[in-house]
Amino acid sequence: MRIPIIAGNWKMNTNLTSAAELVNALQTELTALVATGKVQTVLCPPFPYLDRVSALTRGTGIGVGAQDMYFESKGAFTGEVAPSMILDFAEYVIIGHSERRQLFHETDELVNKKIHSALANNLKPIVCVGEPLETYENGETDVWVRGQVHAAIKGLDAEQVRGLIIAYEPIWAIGTGKAATGPGANAVIGISIRGALADLYSQSVAADVRIQYGGSVTAKNIDEFIVQPDIDGALVGGASLKADEFIAICRAGLPK
Ligand code: PGA
Repeated sequence: MRIPIIAGNWKMNTNLTSAAELVNALQTELTALVATGKVQTVLCPPFPYLDRVSALTRGTGIGVGAQDMYFESKGAFTGEVAPSMILDFAEYVIIGHSERRQLFHETDELVNKKIHSALANNLKPIVCVGEPLETYENGETDVWVRGQVHAAIKGLDAEQVRGLIIAYEPIWAIGTGKAATGPGANAVIGISIRGALADLYSQSVAADVRIQYGGSVTAKNIDEFIVQPDIDGALVGGASLKADEFIAICRAGLPK
């Protein structure tokens, strides 16, 4: 049984006051949802607010995640954040988000190093993959996404792979208001991503890994994704900054 997991990626938004207000507005509802044991939720604030968000959610069952990390454990890496520093406040870490790949030139190789390091430090990686518009329009999504999955998990053993959360986020759907369709996202997740995991490991590994959809998910369209057999939740950007909207998305994660 794969329990759906809904994660809110706040990106570079909120301030100390509004981050706390957002958690306070989410807390009662999300705590009740998580207590059912049928859905998990994760909040991923900017680094400086991890401390506050983690303190405010302590004991609620609501998960906390960072939006990135560096793979080294300490040293002369100005501006970077080590896995152990994140682990003081959070259990999850987003790795390889397309904004990191595109704007900050993160390569498949760097993403792979970060995943190894996160797992070695007991963090749960949320690994992002997804194709750009041109690739989608050329009908090359399958090759692209399989390639990203192969590169990301290179050198991991089956047990480590089972501990990953993968997020399929087509770049053309992120922040555009143009979400994929439920069946379209389900096909990429079921055929390309689970297919790659089955080729590299086994059918059982492919069937155990939780895979989210991300890209313009809202309270209005979440049901379209959550009913799909291969989709296990969502990675939510813009809509995770509005308490009512995010609560509705998380509620949709409960089995119907
Ligand atoms: P969006 O972002 O929901 O605003 O499209 C999703 C993401 O980048 O994770």
